[in-house]
Amino acid sequence: MPLSSDWWRSAVIYQIYPRSFADSNGDGMGDLPGITARLSDLRELGVDAVWLSPFYRSPQHDAGYDVADYRAVDPRFGDLGDADKLIAEAKQLGLRVIVDLVPNHTSSEHAWFQAALASAPGSPERERYIFRDEPPNNWRSVFGGPAWEQTTDGQWYLHLFDVSQPDLNWANPQVRAEFVAILRFWLDRGADGFRVDVAHGLVKDPSLAGWEYGDDTVLGGLTPQDAPPPPIWDQDGVHEIYREWRSVLDEYEDDRILVAEAWVQPAERLAHYVRPDEMHQAFNFEYLVTPWAAAPLRAVIDRTTGANAEVGAPTTWVLSNHDVTRHASRFGFSDGKDHRNGISARDPQPDAPLGLRRARAASLQMLGLPGSAYLYQGEELGLPEHTTMPDEFRQDPAWERSGHAEPGRDGCRVPIPWEADAPSYGFGPTDASWLPQPASWAELALDRQRGVAGSTYELYRAALRLRREHDLGNGTLTWTGSQPEVLAFANGDVLVLSNFGDEPVALPGGSQVLLSSGPLTGDGQVPPDVTVWVRR
Ligand code: GLC
Repeated sequence: MPLSSDWWRSAVIYQIYPRSFADSNGDGMGDLPGITARLSDLRELGVDAVWLSPFYRSPQHDAGYDVADYRAVDPRFGDLGDADKLIAEAKQLGLRVIVDLVPNHTSSEHAWFQAALASAPGSPERERYIFRDEPPNNWRSVFGGPAWEQTTDGQWYLHLFDVSQPDLNWANPQVRAEFVAILRFWLDRGADGFRVDVAHGLVKDPSLAGWEYGDDTVLGGLTPQDAPPPPIWDQDGVHEIYREWRSVLDEYEDDRILVAEAWVQPAERLAHYVRPDEMHQAFNFEYLVTPWAAAPLRAVIDRTTGANAEVGAPTTWVLSNHDVTRHASRFGFSDGKDHRNGISARDPQPDAPLGLRRARAASLQMLGLPGSAYLYQGEELGLPEHTTMPDEFRQDPAWERSGHAEPGRDGCRVPIPWEADAPSYGFGPTDASWLPQPASWAELALDRQRGVAGSTYELYRAALRLRREHDLGNGTLTWTGSQPEVLAFANGDVLVLSNFGDEPVALPGGSQVLLSSGPLTGDGQVPPDVTVWVRR
């Protein structure tokens, strides 16, 4: 696979959640050697790159998004030598490696925060974080509860997430310099880029004005449409930071990239993050939260591709990640709600066959769109959310901090099945698994799907191969047809058609079907909740 320039404009990038991908030592927690041993499987699937959620030294109060040392690998996952081996092996296979960067906050166990606590109010050590004598506002943590925590000497510090995740003060030049040094550390080790956590949160409005409109959801950031601009998120000051980072990346060869995790609306605001001198990509979360319905999907595709075109950026599609209910379960509801914040056994349960059918159709639509796309580990197997996980296993801080109002994100983080008949379904050599795996996952294991015509795995593999052959990632989208319950667009020589209605729809005469997310009817029509790719 050639490592060509601008690779990221059309790349399919696979998200690895290290805890839950592959466990080499049988302790029930995935690790870096486990990932390295499975990279050839991802090569076979046909992705261009992997993004790894954090594997740095961390007390794991937020599954590694609470970083205690940005330059060390947590012993649960291995060591720096294992990270080097992983990167080297990936390169050998023609896969790029994107690592996660968590700049909004550190862990409370980071040396800087420990020094801040040991120093007096007003000291330079406290100036790296956001300390005040009194809570200056009513801000809420994204995980629930207040965003200010009192220390033993009476001062309060800001934590937009867990109390163990104090927010850094990005007005402090030391903070800026440190993150440039961290970027260089991983670029020098061969990282191809960074997924930037909470990219819209680093800079706060200096007024620290109150905010009445917050939503306490796990994701935060997507504020009600009619609310004024939040003083917490998406401040113009963040862009200066990303311009500096871009200039650092541009010093390196091989097209290293930055991708923003920014829950920002409208699309025009999000597009600011991907201006030519800033980041390369920003996840299109507006697309992710759109229900499976023709009109809203068409509108969001138009809005987001249009806003990005204004700044010359591709659109970065995504349907699942480690923070939202897996799309095979989200789409198993017909109540018009997005169900992104987890599902517990007490909630209404999704219609699993419907969810899978729509998830396959949605994925095939997404992979037919021009731009880049991210896959979340296990979606290529059609994995649903674990929707009946007993509460005692829950580890997401959102579960406790929301007073058990939100089940949290554990249901999408369950270790994935590789081999139906092996302990922990082949996740590791023992049956240990840090979150319980549903028994129904045996039949979804990779070894039950590989080589099986019509399996979700073979659907993804074929889609990735055809996407490459027809260069769909670099194409352009032109809507065709006018049936309200059908979305059809041309991308190069391929027509992508999804049926959202209740009745089968006919394909244009003489169509050569390249791929279909489900069987066509006996007379060659596209059934409800199916996407097809045909050669035009
Ligand atoms: C991002 C991560 C999420 C984490 C949060 C705080 O949203 O994706 O998993 O909890 O940031 O770092």
